[in-house]
Amino acid sequence: MADKSKFIDYIDEALEKSKETALSRLLFTYQGIPYPITMCTLETFQALDTFEARSDDIVLASYPKCGSNWLLYIVSELIFTVTKKKHEYPEFPVLECGDPEKYQRMKQFPSPRILATHLHYDKLPESIFKNKVKILVLFRNPKDTAVSFFHFHNDVPDIPSYGSWDEFFKQFMKGQVSWGSYFDFAINWNKHIEDANVKCILYEDLKENLASGIKQIAEFFGFSLTGEQIDTISALSTFEAMRARSQVTHGAVGPFLFRKGKVGDWRNLFHQSQNQEMDEKFEACLAGTSVGVKLKYNSYCQA
Ligand code: A3P
Repeated sequence: MADKSKFIDYIDEALEKSKETALSRLLFTYQGIPYPITMCTLETFQALDTFEARSDDIVLASYPKCGSNWLLYIVSELIFTVTKKKHEYPEFPVLECGDPEKYQRMKQFPSPRILATHLHYDKLPESIFKNKVKILVLFRNPKDTAVSFFHFHNDVPDIPSYGSWDEFFKQFMKGQVSWGSYFDFAINWNKHIEDANVKCILYEDLKENLASGIKQIAEFFGFSLTGEQIDTISALSTFEAMRARSQVTHGAVGPFLFRKGKVGDWRNLFHQSQNQEMDEKFEACLAGTSVGVKLKYNSYCQA
């Protein structure tokens, strides 16, 4: 991500809006899904319908707090390694966030453009499907995702806080959080996860073997790199390396965004009843589905 100052400016602006926004006013609903008023607007959603995708765009889809900034960095570095050009365009990388004119400006940006998104598959603009754009979907186990989401709200001084973890958990399970329900997101993407132009990767797999994950991502997008180049990107994308640079790359929010980077942190917050509730929800919504299997729920979420 190259134009860091623009990127940080956008984050700072969103934080400034957050300061004046009470939790009770944070969300607005568009086509049945709650979004934060600090980052999304009705006008931008309407303009998104006119977005013209290119066949060599790169879509990175994930539910919030699944590691989207990590993936964005890895893919930017892959592009840089292959093209020798920094991924330089001054736009906040989340497709649905920003002002409605951003899609006009994006027409001028060089290929390949990275389009990060937290949208459901069926909320993406039609041109993405028409042009058979490759889509990488990043998943993370729902328990760590919820804990990361809670900390983001409650640790960042300018973002509205929840009264307690228990209160956040209730809203998370109801899908009354920014970008809606984790489970609805997963059910929606599940319908397309085996499509030819879609690939799923897991946060936990990246943690376990970063170089192997980066290699798979490169292969999916058709980038040819040497083992040495993959190792260089791996070293730059560890949690420690990214956290150390976070204030420069992401501004004041950086250290909160790169918080802990661990698998299993949910054990510090989940009560027994919350474990049971989420296990039942997983069973009802995702067990036995393609995404359900890929999530390796039993390995990562068993109490
Ligand atoms: P934690 O809050 O559990 O630490 P997103 O970028 O989608 O908002 O996701 C943020 C989560 O991804 C945070 O989780 C953050 O620490 C984690 N993350 C970011 N970069 C990472 C990296 N290089 N390695 C592991 N986890 C990373």
